[in-house]
Order: sequence, then structure tokens, then C-alpha cells
Amino acid sequence: MTTEVLVASNRGPVSYSVGADGSLTARRGGGGVVSGLMALGPRAGTWVCAALGDGDRAAVDRFGATLSAADTDGQSVRMLRIPPATYDAAYNGVANSVLWFVHHLLYQTPLEPVFDEAFEERWAGYEAYNAAFAEALAEEAGEGAAVLVQDYHLSLVPRMLRERRPDLRIGFFAHTPWAPPELFRVLPDPIARQVLLGVLGADRAAFHTRRWADAFAACCADQLGVGLSGDVVAHEGGTTRLGVHALGADAEFLRERAFRPDVDERLAALRAEIGDRRTIVRVDRTELSKNIVRGLLAYRRLLTDRPEWHGRVTHVAFAYPSRQDLAVYREYTAEVSRVAEAINVEFGTADWSPVLLHVKDDFARSLAAYRLADVALVNPVRDGMNLVAKEVPVISEEGVALVLSREAGAAAELGEDALLVNPYDIAGTAQALHRALTMPPDERARRSERLAAAATALPPTDWFLDQLSALQG
Ligand code: F6P
Repeated sequence: MTTEVLVASNRGPVSYSVGADGSLTARRGGGGVVSGLMALGPRAGTWVCAALGDGDRAAVDRFGATLSAADTDGQSVRMLRIPPATYDAAYNGVANSVLWFVHHLLYQTPLEPVFDEAFEERWAGYEAYNAAFAEALAEEAGEGAAVLVQDYHLSLVPRMLRERRPDLRIGFFAHTPWAPPELFRVLPDPIARQVLLGVLGADRAAFHTRRWADAFAACCADQLGVGLSGDVVAHEGGTTRLGVHALGADAEFLRERAFRPDVDERLAALRAEIGDRRTIVRVDRTELSKNIVRGLLAYRRLLTDRPEWHGRVTHVAFAYPSRQDLAVYREYTAEVSRVAEAINVEFGTADWSPVLLHVKDDFARSLAAYRLADVALVNPVRDGMNLVAKEVPVISEEGVALVLSREAGAAAELGEDALLVNPYDIAGTAQALHRALTMPPDERARRSERLAAAATALPPTDWFLDQLSALQG
């Protein structure tokens, strides 16, 4: 394998902020794709992403559209200056209001979604945004290069890129679940088909679990009438092989990062606040699929049904705001705070706050919480994978009991040693929390060790390289 490898994703591997004096500070992102591309060394080609915010735009002004590896202290990055209205239509209007909701089964009222003229405009924005990526990739990629397109923001890119550059090997990876055909049918037919044909422009389309790959194949059969033979979908544009690569936790990184002094400091502060109470920890971006409100209600139910826990347990809930340009996410963020506060008012005492809610993103404090967790609560209504479920067991100090939604991709690998719950079932989740809190220490330690082993089976670099060799093989 000597070919150049390009990546495309909405968010890039680096983002910039501008200081008061006009200086630029780069912040490097983490995650499997970043580690994988770094591991490729000289074969790592350009990463195409959107310029997000004033900092990124200032970086483009200073360094030019394509930032070299030296500029970014990493890999070469092409940041696209998408017009704000197009970006808003694509990211907020289509990707995070419609596609995210469809794939995570989040529509809650018969009034949603609305496919009207305003949606048609947003869809045009999504197409334009995808076309900008395809155009940039077509310009950047050398002859026969491999291009790895990431996620639901860019579902049209594989096909658009194939039309421009048939010589490339194109891979698509969905980090989300894929909707079952009945839900995918919510999308107007021409759009549903465009999304499927967009992804089918790839030589390989890959997912975190077999379940999401099967759902994608079922949508192709339903909407396009094309069948699966083995793992291959044959369609009007050629063939697309489906693959499954379950991203694992990065044990090496976590074990090094989680025991640095800044994490120790935060751990000491948390311990001082919590005392010798048992802890139920959750760490999420605040968005609806994470099901934080039902998690809080399950904790409330635990306190209602089992008063023996009063004063003896703290729910450490870190819920970091996300996608705040959209009202539905803002309202959900406010709802999380309201419910947490109501539990504290209902059950709290002078020396006990049942819920410790933090909303300011602090990675070191999240790691500290992972280290002290007796119980981790990961209850998304649906999740492509969920790495928190995989990361906590790796650095937990005393072993963690994991209460895990059966609808998270991670359940496919962690299901035997986690306590699986139906994320909609508040009473069932409350019972699982009690069971987790009362799990005998030796059983908890044994399960936690097995969870950590399963969670690290496919570290990010291997996850990335496996995809690449399957694409090129
Ligand atoms: O799960 C899909 C995903 O794109 C992840 O890859 C990523 O962690 C998350 O959503 C980020 O969302 P946003 O970029 O909207 O903050």
C-alpha cells in the first residue's frame, strides 16, 4: 500500500481560535481518524474539512486554503470556506435536524419533520456543501489515491466524487446508526434515494456494527430495489462492498492522559465534593440521542423506590452543550438542567446534592470522573458506537459496573458484561442502577476487566488501517 490517503469530514483534525492580539492558537482534535491518518506517515494526504468559526477563517487567510503539515503541526488540511447560509442549511438544517433525527429515531411528534419550501432550500444547501467537498477532494487527490469520507454530513460526496474522479478508491464511514427502512421512508423519496446513491458512490461503505450495515442494505433494497449478495450491493453505478469496523478505545492514550497531574487535581476536587458516597457517572455531549433526561428520571426513580440510597450516592453528570444554533438542542440542554435541579430540590439536604451537573466541557475532569466511577450510565436511545462506554472501564480505578443501552453500537461487544437496558424504560434503568450499585466488588472487577479487554480490541489506528486495507484490497 503506497497510495496517498485523503480524508473528508465536516470537522477537521485541527481548529483555530484568534486571541485578543490577533494571534492564532491551534487545537488538535482526537479520535480514531486523526490517530489513523497520523500513523500513515508520508502516505497521509490532505484532510478536507469545513472552516468553522472566525479562527479557522483567519487561519485560511493567513496560510491559504490548503494548510501544510508544518502550518498545522500535523497533516496537510484544506479548509473550505463554505458560505455561512450554505453551511447553516447543510449542518443545522439537514444534517443535524433531519438526517441525525432519522438515523437516531428521534422524531417525537407527528408534526416533525416538515418537508416544505424552506426544507428544499436547506437541501440545496446540503447539496452545495457536499459538492464543495467533492470538488476540493477531486482537486487534491493524486492519481489512484484512497479517499475516506466520514459521516452523514457528507453522504452525497462519494457519488459526486466518483463522477469527477473515477480513478479514486472511495470509502465511506458512517459514525451514526443507520435508520431502518420504515424510518428512512420519512425522507421524501428523491432525497432518500439521493442519500443512498450518494453513499453507494463509494467502493466500500462501512459501519460500527453489523446492525447498521444491515439497516443500510435494507434501505437500499427498499428504496432502490437492489439486493445484497454476500457483502456486496450491486447497483446502477457499479458495486459497493459493505464492511463493519467497530472502533475501540485508545487504551495507550487514555492510560497516559488520565494519570497526569491536571486529572489528579480534578479527581481530588471531585473526591472532596463527593466524600465516600457511591458514584454514578455519565459524560455526554448534550443532545437528544444521549437520552440524558430519561437517565436523570431513572436516577430519580432509584431515589424514590430505594430511600436507602439517600445521602449515599451522587450522580455525577457531565453534559456538555452541543449544536446550540438549533432551538431543539438548546431546549434539551435547558431541560437537562431543569430536571437535575428538580431532583436536587426534591431529595437534596444541607450536606448532600444528589446530582452534580457540570456543563462546561473539561476533558481532564471527564477523565477524573471515569477514574472514580462506581457505575457508568450510558443510555442513548440509539448510538452509532458510544466511546464513553468503552473508555470508562479502561481507566476506572476500582472497576466499573456499566449500565448500557442495548441500542448503542457498543452493546454488540460489551453486552455480556454490561447491564443492558431498554433506554426508554425508566423503571428498568432504575433497577439496573440499583443492581450496578450493589454488585459485589469481585464480580464488578471481573466484569470491568473483561469490558476493558473487549473495548480495546480494535484500537483507533488498527480501525483506520483495517478500513484502508479492505478498501485497497
Ligand atoms: O456521531 C456522529 C458525529 O459526527 C461524531 O463523529 C462526532 O463525535 C459528533 O457527531 C460531533 O458532532 P458535532 O460535530 O455536531 O459537534
